[in-house]
Amino acid sequence: MDYTFICNQFVKRYGEDYNLYASPGRVNLIGEHTDYNGGFVFPGAIDKMIVAAIKANDTDTISVYSYDMKETEEFALDEKPIRGWALYIYGVVQELLKRGHKIGGFNCVFGGDIPIGSGLSTSAALESTFCFALNDMFNLGLSKLDMAQIGQAAEHNAVGVRCGIMDQFASVFGEEGHLIRLDCRSLEYDLVPFHPENCRVVLIDTQVKHNLASSEYNIRRAECEEGVATIKKDYPLVNLLRDVTLDMLHEYKKTLKESTFRRCQYVIQENMRVEAAMDALYQNDYVKFGELMYASHEGLSKEYNVSCEESDFLVEVARKNGVLGARMMGGGFGGCTINLLKEEDYDTFIADAIESYKQKFRKAPKIYDVKIGVGSHKIK
Ligand code: GLA
Repeated sequence: MDYTFICNQFVKRYGEDYNLYASPGRVNLIGEHTDYNGGFVFPGAIDKMIVAAIKANDTDTISVYSYDMKETEEFALDEKPIRGWALYIYGVVQELLKRGHKIGGFNCVFGGDIPIGSGLSTSAALESTFCFALNDMFNLGLSKLDMAQIGQAAEHNAVGVRCGIMDQFASVFGEEGHLIRLDCRSLEYDLVPFHPENCRVVLIDTQVKHNLASSEYNIRRAECEEGVATIKKDYPLVNLLRDVTLDMLHEYKKTLKESTFRRCQYVIQENMRVEAAMDALYQNDYVKFGELMYASHEGLSKEYNVSCEESDFLVEVARKNGVLGARMMGGGFGGCTINLLKEEDYDTFIADAIESYKQKFRKAPKIYDVKIGVGSHKIK
């Protein structure tokens, strides 16, 4: 990303002296709504990111200019800002203070090229950028895992979305050309080289930004917790849906609310799909991998009920065009579909997706070709 405009704005507003930090958004090949259930995910950082020019200002005031919003916020370290985007920065600052870290005020200009509200985790990128920058500027000695967890806590406490760890983890830990197979219970992870031969990954943005996303997200999480609480009465070692097998769950088919049962079943099956997908990948079996992506979508749409008409439509168009695998990605209710396809099918699929989507929804979807990029870093 060309970030000279950010540097120029910083110089104009605050002076010549600053450092530059960046953190990316993420994709997730498979493993959706499994992270907060202690399950597996398979994300990667992308080459779209947030870049921030920052300098400590020896006061206890934060002054931030959002280049994309063309707005400035000024707030004391412990003061809640007004604008939504500033809450993420405030959230990170609060989590650092809570943990006893000594930080001061700073001046900042930030901007980026992650499409906002498209399910590519602009919010995690924002949290990671600020946590990484503050750690470096004030020598806090945080590990990468600390930073991912602080970003997640900021989202829970300042923004009110009870997200899992996947997005912040991918944003902080990402490595070029690698996806991350993360076990969200143990937090152990492997970096898996991802260069599918003659295949590529493309995102199609429905351009639907659903305002139910965060409230429904918290409801899904609560439904999973409700399932766990019931099962735990008989199986005290169960703490997360990850600890529950399909056989165990079936014992509760009559006890659990029908919708709760379906949510839990989806999560357990999705976890199994991630494991099967990893096996397929190690055998270079992209056909199998793709089938698992379609099955993931089916579950997200019909059992977990977090898709929308537009995403379902794009997945169907993918299927008709022989795309190996397609599914909605991220929290749901809009955003992007992720598609794994043969190089040779790219042109016809994209042309058909754009044309048929326009005809049906009277607007064009956006296409993003994915490159797996590097996680949080200091540019200078
Ligand atoms: C959002 C959350 C993640 C994860 C996904 C769904 O992106 O931030 O923690 O739960 O939804 O897989």
